[in-house]
Amino acid sequence: MHFALDRRIPWFCFGLVLLLDCSLALTPAAIPIVVKSPYLSTWLPGFNTLNPSWCAYWQASNIGWAGYAVVDNATHLTMGSPGPSTKAPDGMPMTQVDEFRTATSTVFVMQIPSVNLTYTFLSPITPNDFLCQSIPFAYLYVTAESRDGRPHTVSIYSDVPGEWLSGDPDHQTMNWTTTPGQNFVTHKMQLQQTKPMTEQGEYIQDGAVYFSAMGVSGVLCASSAHALIAKPRAQPGLTYRIGEDTVVRSEFVDTGTLTSTIIDNDFRAVSMRWPVLAFSVNLGTVMCPSQPAVFSIGNARMAMAKLRDTQLVPYYASRFTPDQLPAFVMGDFQTALKTAADFDAQVEVASRTISDNTFDIVALSIRQSLGATELVVRQNADGSYDTSTPMLFVKDMSRTSVRPVLLVLWV
Ligand SMILES: *[C@@H]1O[C@H](CO)[C@@H](O)[C@H](O)[C@H]1NC(C)=O
Ligand SMILES: *[C@@H]1O[C@H](CO)[C@@H](O)[C@H](O)[C@H]1NC(C)=O
Ligand SMILES: *[C@@H]1O[C@H](CO)[C@@H](O)[C@H](O)[C@H]1NC(C)=O
Repeated sequence: MHFALDRRIPWFCFGLVLLLDCSLALTPAAIPIVVKSPYLSTWLPGFNTLNPSWCAYWQASNIGWAGYAVVDNATHLTMGSPGPSTKAPDGMPMTQVDEFRTATSTVFVMQIPSVNLTYTFLSPITPNDFLCQSIPFAYLYVTAESRDGRPHTVSIYSDVPGEWLSGDPDHQTMNWTTTPGQNFVTHKMQLQQTKPMTEQGEYIQDGAVYFSAMGVSGVLCASSAHALIAKPRAQPGLTYRIGEDTVVRSEFVDTGTLTSTIIDNDFRAVSMRWPVLAFSVNLGTVMCPSQPAVFSIGNARMAMAKLRDTQLVPYYASRFTPDQLPAFVMGDFQTALKTAADFDAQVEVASRTISDNTFDIVALSIRQSLGATELVVRQNADGSYDTSTPMLFVKDMSRTSVRPVLLVLWV
């Protein structure tokens, strides 16, 4: 048995206090980016802006997530810090003019004189819907708006490397596939050598990371922030590529698009000519707030833990295999937005009646607490799933141990 079980109070109830810098009470030491499960826990170190700086895994190693936008044929860095390794003009980054958080989302407004781009990182929180709560996926959606009353063409680029999989990028080999669907495209990556229920450097040595993107149908205006309509559009609105970071980023920087048909199948170590999984979404000609370019990222596996001789699997396994999750998550975007808006409003109303500071702290701590958990069920001997007694596990991040230790929080 790889997992020890324990019923002690989880450390993070106390850890939250450390997260807050007391001199500037409402500026967290780390801003949540994608915080949905212990192995999908990505933060922006405090006081950094979305560019030019990398996000970090919860225990602080870099997690590369790079972003560019081409606006009227000029490229701008929006996210990450690809630096001089890419021909991309880091010298023309967009300026971050706003950052704010709700219970489920962190929002950044990036600006140049002609447009605002709004990057929203949504980690769904659905306490009343165990299926959705158990799905270890989060969204990024990006909208554009003209600032000068004139139309502007906008394309959004986003890529992730194998750092999302491995704490040992020099020695672990990754592989990957791309599955083009009708409305969206999914890149999947995983380690070549998997070890169920085992960690290395706090990274799980099992499962796969899925990165998906959906094209949009162009120029319609959304009437309000929560009335976003993502109407899927097939290529050429959405292009994609997997390959060496410098090569793939340079292609977008030079041409504003990606050659979806170029295939790199040279599976290699995560840090060897860093393979990145990339998408480019053309938002078309933008005036008023555009429809969003929608991305999702998830890290899913089947073997969660063993309870004596019983295998524990994710709650969602009763409906989906990990490979089926991207389609469900992309198809569920509208519902996820609505559910998140309702939940955010409830948290805001309830906590602002106490104080604005209370709202900031509550909003942060909900994502942090639930993001440390996994919702699991027993797999019966006949292969079926016992959804009548779900269990919530929390990763014990306070111990240094080769093996992950999940504490039973609630049964
Ligand atoms: C962008 O490039 C295309 C193709 O080279 C050109 O037709 C178009 O006029 C350019 N747009 C702007 C705003 O420079
Ligand atoms: C651009 O973003 C800034 C900062 O959030 C905001 O004040 C401004 O109204 C936005 N402009 C437009 C046209 O959306
Ligand atoms: C990647 O490696 C895993 C584990 O060894 C294997 O099951 C899978 O088929 C490989 N995928 C590709 C595309 O080679």
